[in-house]
Amino acid sequence: MDWGMKNRMAHVTKPDGKCFFLPIDHGYFLGPTSCLEKPGDTIKPILSYADALFVTRGVLRNSIDPLKSKPIILRVSGGSSVIGEDLANEEITTSVEEALRLNAMAVGMSIFVGSKYEKQTITNLGKLVNECERYGIPVMAVTAVGKELAKRDARYLSLCSRIAAELGARVVKTYWCEDFDKVTNACPVPIVIAGGPKCKTELEVFKFVHDGLQKGAIGVNLGRNVWQHKFPVAMMKALHAVIHKKASPKEADEIFKDMKNKSKSR
Ligand code: 5RP
Repeated sequence: MDWGMKNRMAHVTKPDGKCFFLPIDHGYFLGPTSCLEKPGDTIKPILSYADALFVTRGVLRNSIDPLKSKPIILRVSGGSSVIGEDLANEEITTSVEEALRLNAMAVGMSIFVGSKYEKQTITNLGKLVNECERYGIPVMAVTAVGKELAKRDARYLSLCSRIAAELGARVVKTYWCEDFDKVTNACPVPIVIAGGPKCKTELEVFKFVHDGLQKGAIGVNLGRNVWQHKFPVAMMKALHAVIHKKASPKEADEIFKDMKNKSKSR
């Protein structure tokens, strides 16, 4: 790996090799998602626990203080909306030049394996990797979003992740599933676990994150289960302990409860 690529990867991970990416990019297809109407306000109390922010250029420019930011992973794909015909119909929307101008440490785009737009999105990943490799920018491939999420098992997720890695992604974001080691073992690049819609309990979140890390993931890219929670700071602190301090789900739950009692709800 070249120096620039290594250095950028080191900026979005911690020296322990683990990472907590905080995504707030949802508006690019969902519009003003609940609790993300004013992204700058939402992240203010929780940003210090994150290692990097996954965000679009619009929110970055308008809502994030460049003097108090975390390393940026720039969302560079889009083109569809939640009310449109097909969420999978994405293109690259943001240039690599723009990523450099915004001092992004990595870029992220989605691929939709098994969808009508499989070829288009996978080919776009290849093209983005071609360009980003010239400048030492890691590409994170986001797999299995939208309708494709229904196929959330190790067979499908390992297929998506492996394809993303084969096309040159430096990091793959995919969902946790039973037998998650089948996904990580078959993927030659680091995997981060996606969060998904809000879970019923906090413990459920701590359990899947803990299991995913035990089975080879390097961290998470997890948003709604934090910032849609009534106690986002407590969630961040507990998850940070699972990722960086080897806390068990039970210990994380105790950290959460302790912090919940000390903090204000959203
Ligand atoms: C959407 C994304 C989001 O970054 C991703 O879904 C993570 O957020 P959450 O934890 O809320 O699911 O890539 O395509």
